[in-house]
Amino acid sequence: MIILGIETSCDETALCLLEVQDSKYRVLANIVHSQIELHKEYGGVFPMLAKREHIKNLPIIYAEILKQAGINENQINSIAVTQGPGLEPALWTGIVFAKELAEKLKVPIVPVNHMEGHIVSTLIETIGTEFHTLKTINFPALALLISGGHTELVKINSLGSYEILGSTVDDAVGEAFDKVARMLQLPYPGGPEISKLAELARTENIPSVIKLPRPMLHSKNLNFSFSGLKTSVLYTLKEMGNPSPDQIKDIAREFEDSVTEVLISKTQEAIEESGPQNLILGGGVVANKHIRGAFEQLAESQNIPLYMPISGLTGDNALMIAIAGSLNTTKPSEEGFVARGNLSL
Ligand code: KG4
Ligand code: ZN
Repeated sequence: MIILGIETSCDETALCLLEVQDSKYRVLANIVHSQIELHKEYGGVFPMLAKREHIKNLPIIYAEILKQAGINENQINSIAVTQGPGLEPALWTGIVFAKELAEKLKVPIVPVNHMEGHIVSTLIETIGTEFHTLKTINFPALALLISGGHTELVKINSLGSYEILGSTVDDAVGEAFDKVARMLQLPYPGGPEISKLAELARTENIPSVIKLPRPMLHSKNLNFSFSGLKTSVLYTLKEMGNPSPDQIKDIAREFEDSVTEVLISKTQEAIEESGPQNLILGGGVVANKHIRGAFEQLAESQNIPLYMPISGLTGDNALMIAIAGSLNTTKPSEEGFVARGNLSL
């Protein structure tokens, strides 16, 4: 059967046509249209602009994936769409588009939790040149989901059965990267920019002068907090007045080190507490090389298999939504099929 996946939770308009045959997947067409260039001007994602762009782009990308896949829309058997979490005005555009299309094509519509999509995207394995499958792993597994909107430690009892062990009490990791980047006058999205400068600080052996806190490192739970760290960067910058390029690199490195240490320490605690068989990383921040390296070391020292998405699948995409939709694990919410900005796993 053919599933259409739709993702509009933030600043990517993404559509995927996926053929599913006994838990084997073949991508017929997959497009991620990023709005980053537009949002750059605002230094972050502006929800109403995201909404306008999704509305404009959805029909164009839909026509394009049909053309690329070489199929007729009547061949679509079901539609999987992100219900949440995310920016509500943005989520609604995908849901409305999906509902209208489902009615026209007389096919079912499946709500998908975006965070389950990120978990699934980590488990995608390519077989041969054409097919994908989901890795068979032992459960329980532990997932650390780090994106622009979320920072969560999740115990996975099986796909579809999740327990949140800890989450951020304020900013998400990606959000902190983006906000600190803005303070350093770097463009949006800030994660890759900070990462580049931090890397330079390391390769150029710039002396480590600036010290930032490791928030919640010794809290007796698995929650995170990144807003204090962000404020520390602000005060550091104020004190400096006019920081030199080397000082900026030093801040970027210290910030990245602080975030990495906190993520590693909390994940280690979660491993000790919940005894998972596997460790799964998901979300846009997993693109960060330093963080990936630190988790590879942690997995080795803890002797636990580690799964991370291949590059190209760390960020938001509709392939993960189509596959998660094929699993059919998200229960329809009581309020009916509405956008839910803070939908939890
Ligand atoms: O999962 P994602 O594409 O969208 C959300 O669902 O939020 O994550 C986007 C976030 C942004 O905050 C971006 O700055 C961050 O991922 N990000 C990174 C890197 N690449 C993207 N953060 C740190 N280092 C990176 N290399
Ligand atoms: Zn995401």
